[in-house]
Amino acid sequence: MSFYITCAIDYPNRQPHIGTAYEKIAADTIARYKRLAGEDVFFLMGLDEHSQNVYKRAQEEGLEPIAFTDRMEGVFRAAWAAVNVEFDDFIRTTEDRHRIAVEAMVQRAEAAGDFYEGVYKGFYCVSCEAYYSDRDLVDGKCPVHETEPEFREETNVFFRLSAYQARLEAHYEEHPEFVQPDYRRNELLSLLDEGLEDISVSRASDGWGIPMPGHEGQAVYVWFDALTNYLAATGFPEETDTYKKFWPADMHLVGKDITRFHAIIWPAMLMSAGVPLPKVVYGHGWVLTGGGRMSKSVGNVMDPVATAERFGADALRYFLLRETPFGRDLEFDHERFVARYNADLANDLGNLLQRTVGMAMKYQNGALGGPAEGDVTRLAAASREVEAEYREAMEGYELQGGLKAIWKLVAAGNLAVDTHAPWVLAKDPAKAAELDAVLSQLAALLRQVAVLVHPFMPERSATMAQALGQDADPAAWRLDDLHDPSLAPRQVHKSEPLFPRLDVEEVIEGRDATC
Ligand code: MSP
Repeated sequence: MSFYITCAIDYPNRQPHIGTAYEKIAADTIARYKRLAGEDVFFLMGLDEHSQNVYKRAQEEGLEPIAFTDRMEGVFRAAWAAVNVEFDDFIRTTEDRHRIAVEAMVQRAEAAGDFYEGVYKGFYCVSCEAYYSDRDLVDGKCPVHETEPEFREETNVFFRLSAYQARLEAHYEEHPEFVQPDYRRNELLSLLDEGLEDISVSRASDGWGIPMPGHEGQAVYVWFDALTNYLAATGFPEETDTYKKFWPADMHLVGKDITRFHAIIWPAMLMSAGVPLPKVVYGHGWVLTGGGRMSKSVGNVMDPVATAERFGADALRYFLLRETPFGRDLEFDHERFVARYNADLANDLGNLLQRTVGMAMKYQNGALGGPAEGDVTRLAAASREVEAEYREAMEGYELQGGLKAIWKLVAAGNLAVDTHAPWVLAKDPAKAAELDAVLSQLAALLRQVAVLVHPFMPERSATMAQALGQDADPAAWRLDDLHDPSLAPRQVHKSEPLFPRLDVEEVIEGRDATC
């Protein structure tokens, strides 16, 4: 089975922050999970370069826009590497392959009779790159950025979005899974209920943007341009093997502020072009700081690179995905971060590995007989239950639920250590077989935890695998092999602590503006 997952492509006018990294980390986790489940995954990320804020920023820096975005590409790629996000393709909207796809979408909409020229008169928020009517504004301000929009009046090309009202309603009805989570779907259904208006899909060109074919002096509206990236990366309009294999996309993962572009404008564009619609648009929540959205324009951003350097990328990933049910907002709070880190990572998981490996080294030189002795610890049954719960949560994109399931297994392991007290067994030579069985089963459980936790914490999961004498290349790992007895550890090795404890005072004192 194939699985095509995309993220929003970021505006590169500023460097990424933990809010934008959150989405990429979640997508990377889903992509890694799907690979573990044996699917053929295509994970796309990229940059949305033709925004007017990017143009302005380049001017401020005294650079040609393309020289500026070339530089920012490096900044983004470095940030994604720092948080262990690994994509299959990275598309920039300034690439030829993207322009070709956008031109094809324009030509198809034109051929379908969905374009006409008209005068746009109204408000525009440059940070959203979106038009707003009076009724959308809150006290005259953009509802997302809380800034005053510009008033614009220009002759543009319009797209007959209103003509797709009935087809969109029918699609929502026939595919209740199209917009997720369900509370996001309800928001969009109310938007649809208000009735769709045609939208402007071009603007007077300033030389930055894709020229609108057949409409001299106009550039393609940045959202019409950007949304097409998902198709462009498959080779569209050519029906390449990648296109045939991966289109329609299985999941567009985007923030709740831009779900409407993906769940209304994008499907209408695709209907107009005669291209099948993506299967799921998932609108995730925001990372907040001090109760407000972490945002470049607000200036309360935290740097994912500095944070990952300070606490480890995997600890950051864990916190972001464990803190709230996926889909909801979450507050990045240092005290909560340290509390979770120390309780779940340092104590529960880190200590279980440390104790198990430590005892196996001390009593048996790291050698284990394997699980052949029978399930003395009753952990095998627990791990089957956890696997089922984990799969169900992950298939439903309930990432927090996936982590909670894994921690049940971790708790069962810790309980088994306390119940079977291997240090007592070690004192009695007659109990050597029992000791080996207990330690073998704990090591087998830890291998399972390493596999299950891999999508969330790829780096630490590899460290665990090494300590357990496993093949540390996760490309070879499969969820279906979770209970394969031949993979149970036979030789363990001492390792560094997985998650050294943090001191909350030090963390709070050492806080600076970036992490
Ligand atoms: N360029 C558009 C997307 C085009 S997709 C065809 C855009 N870019 S953005 O840089 O402003 O945002 C990129 C993604 O980050 C969006 O999905 C947005 O919702 C998300 N986030 C921005 N701030 C965020 C938080 N504070 N928290 C979580 N996600 C955040 O929109």
